[in-house]
Amino acid sequence: MGREFVEIFDEWIDSYDESVSGKDEEYREVFAGYDDILQKVADAAQGLTVEFGVGTGNLTEKLLKKGIKVVGIEPNAAMRAHTKQRFPELQIEDGDFTSFPLPEEPVQTLVSTYAFHHLTDEEKKEAVLYYRKVLSEDGQVVFADTMFESDIARKKQWEKVGAQGYINLLEDLKREYYTTKPIMEALFQEAGFTVAFTQLNDYVWLIHAKKA
Ligand SMILES: C[S@@+](CC[C@H](N)C(=O)[O-])C[C@H]1O[C@@H](n2cnc3c(N)ncnc32)[C@H](O)[C@@H]1O
Repeated sequence: MGREFVEIFDEWIDSYDESVSGKDEEYREVFAGYDDILQKVADAAQGLTVEFGVGTGNLTEKLLKKGIKVVGIEPNAAMRAHTKQRFPELQIEDGDFTSFPLPEEPVQTLVSTYAFHHLTDEEKKEAVLYYRKVLSEDGQVVFADTMFESDIARKKQWEKVGAQGYINLLEDLKREYYTTKPIMEALFQEAGFTVAFTQLNDYVWLIHAKKA
């Protein structure tokens, strides 16, 4: 589900790690504190962990360093090949946020950074309902992604980015499904999670949801 943006990463793969390090001016604020954001997600992970949208493997590295057993899910073939080369022992599978091979052992944590916005809000809702079913009793979802405090805040950010002349970022913010905090909160609560949010930069929030 939500695979309509997968091909964008065929082009972005070679410069992706430069973008996250702040070399791409348009995306500098989106990736501000990137390393700390990923570390916060890794710090919260426990038990068998499934990671969605692994990309170049930067969050995976932090999880593996912590001694976490990770199953990586990534729909882009070039990203899978890149990350498999980086971590030859890693189990990495073709899949997406809702369609992925479920490990036989209980999954305690689902993690993802900078990727959940590839799903529409309706698709996010379906995904979260599915996570409630497949996670272990003490299971949790720990995602970090761009979202906005409100619809007004999202429109204000579009205006700001437009005034800065960041046309690529503006196109991205309008094209993909960057949601709002109230919508994200409702869809986790309705699926039976307790959820907490922490803002990590002007764009990215940490979403930490536990089975209620
Ligand atoms: C912006 S990158 C983030 C990569 C990495 N998680 C990070 O934080 O640097 C988004 C990743 O999500 C993947 N992706 C795109 N659509 C997806 C989907 N529907 N389900 C899971 N991953 C998806 C892309 O192929 C890409 O590798």
